[in-house]
Amino acid sequence: MAKSKSVFFCQQCGYESAKWMGQCPACREWNTFTEEPVVIATGSGAKSRVRTGQAPVPKSISEISGEEAPRITTGIGEFDRVLGGGAVPGSLILVGGDPGIGKSTLLLQTCRNLAASGRKVLYISGEESLTQIRLRAERLGDFNDHLKLLCETDLTAIEECIASVKPECVIIDSIQTMCSADVTSSPGSVSQVRESTNILLRIAKSMDITVFIVGHVTKEGTVAGPRVLEHMVDTVLYFEGDRHASYRVLRGVKNRFGSTNEIGVFEMSGGGLIEVTNASAYMLEGRPEGASGSVVVCSMEGTRPILLEIQALITRTSFGMPRRQAAGADYNRVNLLMAVLERRTGLKLSDCDAYVNLTGGIRIQEPALDLGMAMAIASGFKNRPVDPHTVVFGEVGLSGEVRSVSQAEARVREAARLGFDTCIIPLSNAEKLRGIKDIKLIGVSSLDECIPLIG
Ligand code: TYD
Ligand code: MG
Repeated sequence: MAKSKSVFFCQQCGYESAKWMGQCPACREWNTFTEEPVVIATGSGAKSRVRTGQAPVPKSISEISGEEAPRITTGIGEFDRVLGGGAVPGSLILVGGDPGIGKSTLLLQTCRNLAASGRKVLYISGEESLTQIRLRAERLGDFNDHLKLLCETDLTAIEECIASVKPECVIIDSIQTMCSADVTSSPGSVSQVRESTNILLRIAKSMDITVFIVGHVTKEGTVAGPRVLEHMVDTVLYFEGDRHASYRVLRGVKNRFGSTNEIGVFEMSGGGLIEVTNASAYMLEGRPEGASGSVVVCSMEGTRPILLEIQALITRTSFGMPRRQAAGADYNRVNLLMAVLERRTGLKLSDCDAYVNLTGGIRIQEPALDLGMAMAIASGFKNRPVDPHTVVFGEVGLSGEVRSVSQAEARVREAARLGFDTCIIPLSNAEKLRGIKDIKLIGVSSLDECIPLIG
């Protein structure tokens, strides 16, 4: 006997509750609960394992084959890097992001490359018609016949199709449009998205097929976001960036088969996504040299150093409360650094408005940006520029001390590679890097020592 009742799910994080709530206790979002019918199997209908008398046999580690199947390279270097060196066969990969950011484009390009390397690929779209996909594909280049397309949203039909086509990779675009007949709620609801992912998980593991799932991030809370299924998949990647700027960042959030602090940088062009291999040069394009409040910093994204520009605009407050704003950088960190600067170096910042911006629309919260941010604020306040051929990095403590950061050598080498001639870095890092000759290193141990270096 199946009994039906309804429960409320937070569309953001999938939290389940018996009654409606205004705010989700798990993710603290407001107005995200919607009612969904669930069918509970009871009595003899409940799926329970029938005892066969034969217990499953567990294995010891040494009995398990340690050979990793060769990874599937997507043919897009930046994508492979974020995946940890290609996709693992039989894994479930979620690519999340705002609508219109370029998820379908990225995966269609991946399909093209996979098909070109002779792999059978199945692209299943629940969002676009075959003609629309063709029109998009025409902009992206030549596709061969190893790629098959299907417009379908019913998972039973999809499973049958996969079983007959037997592809190596499947792309599901998007999970919010998929539905399983076993669940009564509408497509995009939490229970539907979970059930669909479960079915895909089973397909991936039982047939050893790599499945890429597209998930839209939604602010309105009307359809379930990718966070609902983060725990079920092997790899979670988010595609982010300003929809109006042309560059995009693919970031790993969870990866059972690789590191999660790698990023991939892409640029959206008329002919699809282009990899940006020299991210530093790209991020520094159009920098105003010699402007006050502008400082070049170096951040590590995984194993890769990226140079970025921090800008700070400091003006006198015209109302009682000073206004502070941070774009790309951490707002609380900006406030904290301003307090440290005021207390430890005597700059009178408490009656100033401050606007701090990490250019390029990128979001980074790394302590190594502290020193650069502090110098940008001080330079903006004094209205005197920091030498434009200088890169600054270091962590700032509450006593105004400059603390060492990790991977200093990689950061310094990146600065030298891009033609910078000086680095202002923590003293302890500078002492260890004395051997580096092609760039001048200035070691500092406190914020006090940095202020005279401005202007
Ligand atoms: P899309 O991949 O459809 O986004 P998503 O699947 O994440 O919703 O990307 C759509 C955007 O990308 C759209 O604004 C148009 C732009 N675009 C290009 O600029 N160049 C291209 O070659 C393609 C295919 C799309
Ligand atoms: Mg799409």
